[in-house]
Amino acid sequence: QKGGYRFFMEKEIYEQYEVMSDTMIGRVLDNEISFEEIDENFLDGISRIKLCACGTSYHAALVSSYLFERLSKLPVQVEIASEFRYKEPLLTKDTLFIVISQSGETADTLEALKMAKHAGLKTLAICNVDNSSIVRLADTTILTRAGIEKGVASTKAFATQVMVLWMLSLYFGKRCGVLEDSQINKELDAIGHVPTVLKNALDIHEKCKRLSKRYLHGHGFFFIGRDIFYPLALEGALKLKEISYLHAEGYPAGEMKHGPIALADAELFTIALMPKTLLYDKTKSNVEELSARDSTILAISPEIFDLADDFILTHNHNHPMLEFFEMMVVEQLLAMEIAIRLGNDVDMPRNLAKSVTVE
Ligand code: F6R
Repeated sequence: QKGGYRFFMEKEIYEQYEVMSDTMIGRVLDNEISFEEIDENFLDGISRIKLCACGTSYHAALVSSYLFERLSKLPVQVEIASEFRYKEPLLTKDTLFIVISQSGETADTLEALKMAKHAGLKTLAICNVDNSSIVRLADTTILTRAGIEKGVASTKAFATQVMVLWMLSLYFGKRCGVLEDSQINKELDAIGHVPTVLKNALDIHEKCKRLSKRYLHGHGFFFIGRDIFYPLALEGALKLKEISYLHAEGYPAGEMKHGPIALADAELFTIALMPKTLLYDKTKSNVEELSARDSTILAISPEIFDLADDFILTHNHNHPMLEFFEMMVVEQLLAMEIAIRLGNDVDMPRNLAKSVTVE
């Protein structure tokens, strides 16, 4: 069943480029994005978006908050479902309420969706499991088509959620008339390259295996990045802690000096996401500060960075989202190799369940 892979998680990481093509099929056309799930009048009366989810799906929501504001010019708020439920949120009917869930059964997300429906909001689910509770309740669903995900640590479900959200932000941008044709074409071109990027990113697996030896000890990990690479940093840290049980935190790179840098010393490992196409110099100066405080730096970047103790050299891309997807694979492989080296059951980490149906 594992098709020769050691764990389902490994199989699912290796499958990502194939399932991504399924996610895109019929939706990415020559010069536009199309969603048959969404009708003509869907955005009528909508002037803002609220996204709600848990865990990794919440990280996908955070990534999309950058994309929706950039490409659709719609203001976005992102909520953790367990917080949203009890904060007495103010809900207005000009809000499109989007829930994101791999399983479609997460209790907090389902309850948040019920609250939004009760308040009369238009609701959209982005989900991997057809006919799940969330799908049955939402007004409209876009399925991510990742196939069954068995590993408890979410990989291909996250990748396809991000893809659907990116396509959706482009689709809304076009529908709202806020994008130039040249911009639409640039995004479509990048979207078309994602499966190849996911495939080529696997070349880095051996390097991750080798590096995993050196990143087993120490008193913790900082994953840092800016912009969409900040939620990717959160996701990298979550993957690592879930399966390796090592302490890891994700941070916006610019936040280090507001407190966390106090932890920096040689036993603190910094995993720096340093894309070339987005805020490279800003991120670099944040990493330099950590290096000056002796943190051990593993840089993930297409650009050689002298101060890094270790390096994972990524490919050059002309779009931040392509760098995003490649670095996502690197984080997944690194977390998995560290966990395997520690002797953990990567598919069934302690204390965790695949679907969290209680609050
Ligand atoms: C992390 C992970 C969890 C889930 C979370 C939400 O790898 O899998 O954090 O993302 O429990 O689950 P879904 O997406 O099924 O609502």
